[in-house]
Amino acid sequence: MVKHLRIQQVLQDKPVGENLEIKGWVKTRRDGKGLSFLEVSDGSCLTGLQIIADQGLPNYNEEIKKLSTGCAVRAFGSLVESPAKGQEVELHANEIYVFGWADPETYPLQKKRHSFEFLRSISHLRPRTNSLGAVTRIRSTLSYAVHQFFQERGFFQIHTPIITTSDCEGAGEMFSVTALDLNDLPTEKGKVSFERDFFGQPANLTVSGQLEAEIYALSHSNVYTFGPTFRAENSNTSRHLAEFWMVEPEMAFCDLDGDVKVAEEFLKYLVKHALENCREDIDLFAKFVDKELFSKFSAVLESDFIRITYSEAIDRLEESGRDFEFPISWGTDLQSEHERYLTEEVFKKPVVVTDYPKTIKPFYMRVNDDDKTVAAMDILLPGIGEIVGGSQREERYDVLSARMEETGLNPDEYKWYLDLRRFGSVPHAGFGLGFERMILFITGMYNIRDVIPFPRTPGSAEF
Ligand code: 4AD
Ligand code: MG
Repeated sequence: MVKHLRIQQVLQDKPVGENLEIKGWVKTRRDGKGLSFLEVSDGSCLTGLQIIADQGLPNYNEEIKKLSTGCAVRAFGSLVESPAKGQEVELHANEIYVFGWADPETYPLQKKRHSFEFLRSISHLRPRTNSLGAVTRIRSTLSYAVHQFFQERGFFQIHTPIITTSDCEGAGEMFSVTALDLNDLPTEKGKVSFERDFFGQPANLTVSGQLEAEIYALSHSNVYTFGPTFRAENSNTSRHLAEFWMVEPEMAFCDLDGDVKVAEEFLKYLVKHALENCREDIDLFAKFVDKELFSKFSAVLESDFIRITYSEAIDRLEESGRDFEFPISWGTDLQSEHERYLTEEVFKKPVVVTDYPKTIKPFYMRVNDDDKTVAAMDILLPGIGEIVGGSQREERYDVLSARMEETGLNPDEYKWYLDLRRFGSVPHAGFGLGFERMILFITGMYNIRDVIPFPRTPGSAEF
């Protein structure tokens, strides 16, 4: 009987003596005396399976000796212990069938290492490389871990809307959603009349599922949403995407301190989970991409995160004597260079910065007693900068509606949000974790475009 197995299973179980069938893509072919060695990968793990093809096979000269990187094959044969170094087992093929050829003259991926920039230009083929293949597996495993973490703790997943009519962050960085003909817009008094658009009002892609998650936190206590979010900010950096995935838990009966605790536990859980479940892939990144990877993980796992207030952070930055590109003083927002100075040079650990000035934070954050700061928290990671942004939410009706007016929101458009404060309001808090920034941290990769399958950035939206 022939058993069909994924290569990961073959290498894990090593069922020596069994007849197996495997299917995958050729990574390399080497020829020896009267036989060829093929390394075949099916994406299930980093290491490929070595296949020995003997010249006795009927298609040896016609086909097997013409196989090259990228060809798709099926191999039948028996698994044996490998006499040579480099692998424990190998498949002695009785039959090799070629599904599809990949002309070596034109196939862009060759055995040598390609730059990540080059690989971005062939995003439809890059998942076949070792590094992007490893990113893909880590991303999938961590996505599952996000659900495991929250479900194990009794949180309910809420599918918050992708198309919304609110602007959670109030930064106006939204992509419009319309069914109007942009070349023939209906107008009234010189303005577009959205009453005639699909939803009868302006709509946009969500920048965050938080406001809608709050609705369900106030009925189900602990909830989370994990979905794509969209920002039309013109930040062409290695840390920003126009479409990224965010994990947003929201917890009723929770204050800022409780919020930080969940976020810290969550970050530790993800790092530990990746180490336990993706070790082979992480080893690849530690070897070729970021030699500091394991010490960065230790910094997350082995101690409590540092906690400082925004005001303390400003003091540290002012004392530093550094010549920052963006000058810093109380009231200005921390830029990536400031965040990285704090976490990489001052503390060399994850840092939680709390209590930012209300003037630089959105309307929903709870105003502190000093009336100058809000109960906000950002978590900064070495090598990344901001990974988490969160806060305790303003649960007091009057303070919230005043903050809305102050920040230029029309309270009439957020009646439902204010209602949550009129009926059964409770202290509650939550945060958002940028999923791609987490994958950057786990892989040590440098550019956020290389940890999402289909990056969307200013000027670029392929596929
Ligand atoms: O700090 P942000 O903007 O927070 C919110 O959206 C809150 N509504 C979250 C909440 O409390 N429920 O974004 C949260 C995180 C950031 O810390 C960062 O990791 C990531 O989302 N992020 C981005 N990641 C990639 N590309 C971008 N353009 C990002 N903007 C934010
Ligand atoms: Mg933020």
